[in-house]
Parts: sequence; C-alpha cells; structure tokens
Amino acid sequence: MRNPLSKIEVLEDADRLDRIASPVRTGVHALPLGPLRDALRGRWQGHPLHPVLVQTPIGAWASAALLDLSRGNERAARLLVAAGLATAAPAALAGAVDFADQLPEQERVGVVHAAANTAAVALYAASLAARNKGRSGRLLGFAGLTAATAGGFLGGHMAYRQAAGVNHGQPVPHLIDAGWHAVGAPEEFPRGSAVRRMVGEVPVLVVRDSDSPGEVHALADRCAHLSGPLSEGEISDGCVTCPWHGSTFRLADGACVAGPSTAPQPAFDVRLSDGLVEVRLRQGQAH
Ligand code: FES
Repeated sequence: MRNPLSKIEVLEDADRLDRIASPVRTGVHALPLGPLRDALRGRWQGHPLHPVLVQTPIGAWASAALLDLSRGNERAARLLVAAGLATAAPAALAGAVDFADQLPEQERVGVVHAAANTAAVALYAASLAARNKGRSGRLLGFAGLTAATAGGFLGGHMAYRQAAGVNHGQPVPHLIDAGWHAVGAPEEFPRGSAVRRMVGEVPVLVVRDSDSPGEVHALADRCAHLSGPLSEGEISDGCVTCPWHGSTFRLADGACVAGPSTAPQPAFDVRLSDGLVEVRLRQGQAH
C-alpha cells in the first residue's frame, strides 16, 4: 500500500508555495509584537506554545460536533462553536510567529496547514452565523471539523516528521562520551571569536571571553532551534546569535535569551589541562 505521507512530502518540495510563504513571513516579522513575540513562541515555558493553544478550539469544536451528532443541546453547541472561534485567534497568532522562522520545506507544509485551519475558521464562522439565525449549522460545523483535522494532521507532520519546534540540542548528551575532551591549545582561540571544534561527532563552539581572556566558553554548535551553525553567528555581550533565525544564547551557560529557540543550548565546562583546552558536557546535561 502506498504511504499516504508521500503526498505530504510532495508539498515539502512544492516551491510554488514559496510565493505565498515569503510575503507571509515578511508580514509576520513586521508585526510590532515586542516581547509578546517570544511569549507566543513559548520561550518562557521551554517549548512551543502553539500546540498548547490549539487544544482549546479543537476540543470545543469536537465537543460541538458530538452534540450535533447526538442532536444534543443546540445552545451548548452554539456556545462551543463560538468558544472555538474566540480561542482560535491566539492559537493562530502563535502559529504564525513560529511559521516565520522555519526552513523552506517546513514553510511550504505550514502554508497548507494554515490554509486548512483558515478554512476551518471560515466554516465555523458560517456555522455560527447560521445557528444565530436559528438555522442548522451542523453540516458547516462537520465540514469545519474536517478542515481542522486536516490542518492538525499537517501540523503533526511539521512537528514529528520535519522536526519543527523540537529541541535540536536534545541528542547532544547521547552523542558525547562522558569526561574531558581536548579541543586545542589556548592560542587557537582568539579573544571574542567563534571557533568550531569537533568532540566525537558533535560540533562544539568555543569562544575565549573578550573581557576576561582567561575564561573560555563552549556550547554545542548546532542551534537548538533548527541546527543552524552558531560558530558562524555573531558574538557580542557574552552571547552568540544564530545566523539563521537570530536565536541568542548566553555563552556562559547556554541559556536562551531570545527566540525563536525555546530551548537552551547544551553547555560545556571548560578547563586548561597539560597546556590544552578541554571541555566536558556540563553536569545535568549528560545522559
Ligand atoms: S537555526 Fe533557527 S535560530 Fe538557529
């Protein structure tokens, strides 16, 4: 039997969708959200907020569909449809903010995911209008739930197949052997410059502090957001900023101080031993 996912993978390569994705991305970046942008991303809770916010509209609409199917209380069904519409707005805004910092293949699926959910909102709005006029909004509601389910399926593909929104630093503790690893002589690390070294299979960013030259910091080099190369990013104010979407991590401990990443960057202890700089995955991060 043909894998149904292969159809979705066609979407990933459909570069015609870039004509929609590009202006949407620009428009979302231009929104004057300030600190609300990182709040909507979910940096405060350590993982994306969008999947949490979608629970309410989907739950409300699924409950309305059960009432409609069982010819239950129409007033309750109408209230649930309205509640789903009201709570879809913040869920959509959080999703749009996430969408604006993705890789092209993720964006393309994201465009269709958003289109399905927009169709769901339109159908439920029409369903509510019909109910408010005393007409049946059941069929429109069922159509809305079908569209929302398709949107949810595509959202699942983005999260679990395309790894959008996951912590790309998570594998690091499983790829690095315990203990200290030499990464070079001190003179190989100029002050305030990013240097990339390999520890086994894992690229590591090593930076000698520009204010305290005796201090050397080391973080996993692949960004927790989508694996961008931090060693090609900008070093300033004790932080490194990812060149791909601008996530900013504190060099001292890997804390994420600005999104789109919602996860910290794996950090290493650093010492000088036998004339070499050595790094060891910081305790609490080793598996
Ligand atoms: S890969 Fe997106 S911010 Fe680093």
